[in-house]
Amino acid sequence: MYGRDGNPTWTALEEAVGGLEGGMALSFSSGLAAIAAVLECLPVPGRVVVASDAYSGTRRYLADVAARGRLRYRTVDIANTGATLEACAQVVDTPGRPSGAPGDLGSSGILWLESPTNPLLAIADLESLAAGAHLLGMDVVVDNTFATPLLQRPLDLGADAVVHSATKWLAGHSDVVLGVAVTRREDVHAALSTRRSLHGGIPGPWEAWLVLRGIRTLDVRLQRSQSNAAELSTRLRGHPQVTAVRYPGLPDHPGHDLATRQMAGFGAMIAFEVPGGADAAEAVVARCRLATAGTSLGGVETLVERRGRWAGEEGLPAGLIRLSVGIEDVDDLWDDLEAALS
Ligand SMILES: Cc1ncc(COP(=O)(O)O)c(C=O)c1O
Repeated sequence: MYGRDGNPTWTALEEAVGGLEGGMALSFSSGLAAIAAVLECLPVPGRVVVASDAYSGTRRYLADVAARGRLRYRTVDIANTGATLEACAQVVDTPGRPSGAPGDLGSSGILWLESPTNPLLAIADLESLAAGAHLLGMDVVVDNTFATPLLQRPLDLGADAVVHSATKWLAGHSDVVLGVAVTRREDVHAALSTRRSLHGGIPGPWEAWLVLRGIRTLDVRLQRSQSNAAELSTRLRGHPQVTAVRYPGLPDHPGHDLATRQMAGFGAMIAFEVPGGADAAEAVVARCRLATAGTSLGGVETLVERRGRWAGEEGLPAGLIRLSVGIEDVDDLWDDLEAALS
């Protein structure tokens, strides 16, 4: 009837992503538009518990809405299941019941998870957290951007909804901005579809087609990026100018055993630290020739960035560098990183 309510190219994309995640998908103009649509379902005042190192845009959105009195939220280390559920219990007990109808998404609050987190690569026990949050009456949303549905299916682990920045691995070529939300719940799907039409956060058909085309190669891109990341994480750990490497595939990563059970692979995001703080890390990034300095991730080309350069990321180690590993030759990538580090 009208282009803001439906489009056959969105439908094709939504069938593909919904099939991969095992739910019903809705596409949005960006990952953040999908995130905002989900959080807009909360009755006022909403209650949210969120990973302390969740994507900074999600935290900025929560801070903005909270500053206008429409929700209260707490940040927590989501790798600590006990502390996360304790924070959920406290948020649910906040005086002043929100006005939503029981059963609406987030009527008692939302636990907002990312796993692995951006950029610290922490792993959350999605199944235990979803079960614990549900006992408290909360709903659970997982940002699955880093893992993709090929490595992790949060709806199978109990999540009520999944969001994606399809801008990243799903599209895969750093040339499009688009978001997706997926759920198995008819009520949540209907609520999100209404939010999308009301707010107008719709994707362009061209962008939807680009993501659909990108998904055709997701599996092979991810396999190559992931094997590159596994190799680079090991080599980085042995480098004298690297003080820490965070990659869930490394056996000494605190979430390694959990990631082995929960994921079909460890993904292709790495964070590592260099001594000498921000200046040294910026110098490493500036000296990369093959890896491109850039703030996005999930493309065929390797992107490198010091995350602490952005507002909202001040709590990160100053020398932390995030690497989104692409599909280049792994020895070429290593030569580049090694030269930059040296
Ligand atoms: C984990 C995560 N979620 C959501 C977003 C937001 O997505 P978009 O940039 O498509 O709005 C990003 C962007 O970097 C992200 O890294």
